[in-house]
Amino acid sequence: MKIYFAPLEGITNHLFRNAYNEIYGHIDKYFAPFISPSEKCPITPRERKDVTPENNKGINLVPQLLTCRSDHFIEGAKELQAMGYNEINLNLGCPSGTVCAKGKGAGFLPETLALQKFLDDIYSYAESDSMKISIKTRLGYFNPDEFYDLVDIFNAFPISELIVHPRIKSDFYKGEPRKEYYAYALEHSKCPLVYNGNIFSVKDHDGFSSTFGVSLDPVMLGRGLISDPSLADKLKGFATETDFAKFRRLHDTLYHEYQKIMSPDINVLYKMRELWGYWQTLFDGKDRDIKRLLKAKKYAEYEDVVYRGLLEE
Ligand SMILES: Cc1cc2nc3c(=O)[nH]c(=O)nc-3n(C[C@H](O)[C@H](O)[C@H](O)COP(=O)(O)O)c2cc1C
Repeated sequence: MKIYFAPLEGITNHLFRNAYNEIYGHIDKYFAPFISPSEKCPITPRERKDVTPENNKGINLVPQLLTCRSDHFIEGAKELQAMGYNEINLNLGCPSGTVCAKGKGAGFLPETLALQKFLDDIYSYAESDSMKISIKTRLGYFNPDEFYDLVDIFNAFPISELIVHPRIKSDFYKGEPRKEYYAYALEHSKCPLVYNGNIFSVKDHDGFSSTFGVSLDPVMLGRGLISDPSLADKLKGFATETDFAKFRRLHDTLYHEYQKIMSPDINVLYKMRELWGYWQTLFDGKDRDIKRLLKAKKYAEYEDVVYRGLLEE
């Protein structure tokens, strides 16, 4: 089966991807967090650093663009193409208020006429420059029934893969995915489909697959794969249990890599806190340690909890 690593802005940057890929591997595609091209600058130096192939060796990376302007998309795509990329992903799912207010991400979904024109432009460019464009979408902005029209719109374009996160904007990442709409896509979409949403375990994958009557393959995993980095190994049959030796290596690599680029302690610890927000599910019954760790302000306090408690060898 094929597993795609979902983009998580602030988490799955090149440091994370390199650490994960070296320690775990078994990911067929990594999607980079969004780049939002602007008039002045299609890709900032910071964004360029994250996606440059030099910093993503051995990683099958798909950069993502977030925009509602086809000229901005094409400028950004050209820069990415010059770096060697032949697939770009379009973000039509971001639910953030500031993003949607600018008509981007999920905020673009209700503007169906503008969306069609945008897709016309970018797929004409893609055809002439032999680029693949995949799309990551939600069901709609206001109402999931918007998805019926969106499927018809998408069907008119050579979308290399349509990744569906079956929620609407106001769902953010909460509640159950709206499975019946993904079932509709399976029946009516002409694009190759990829499911994304709420797969945290092998049991979840099997449950969703049996609901849909097809094995979800490829499947895109986000929070589930951060929370349990062994999840891809489990789904592919390389592991049955979470591998804590690998987990410790992942933790240590990220902790040290962040120390190289950030200071003082608290800034690195903010990064680690964000990760522990996901990882804490692996440490049932260790709530007191997790609480202490989340409060740590200095490396010494943090390391006392992590290395003399949670990850003690
Ligand atoms: C902190 C965070 C950052 C995210 N950043 C992006 C992003 O840059 N681009 C994108 O398409 N989706 C982004 N997403 C959405 C995820 O890629 C994914 O669609 C979502 O988490 C649902 O999948 P999951 O249930 O497997 O986590 C983000 C989600 C979270 C929680």
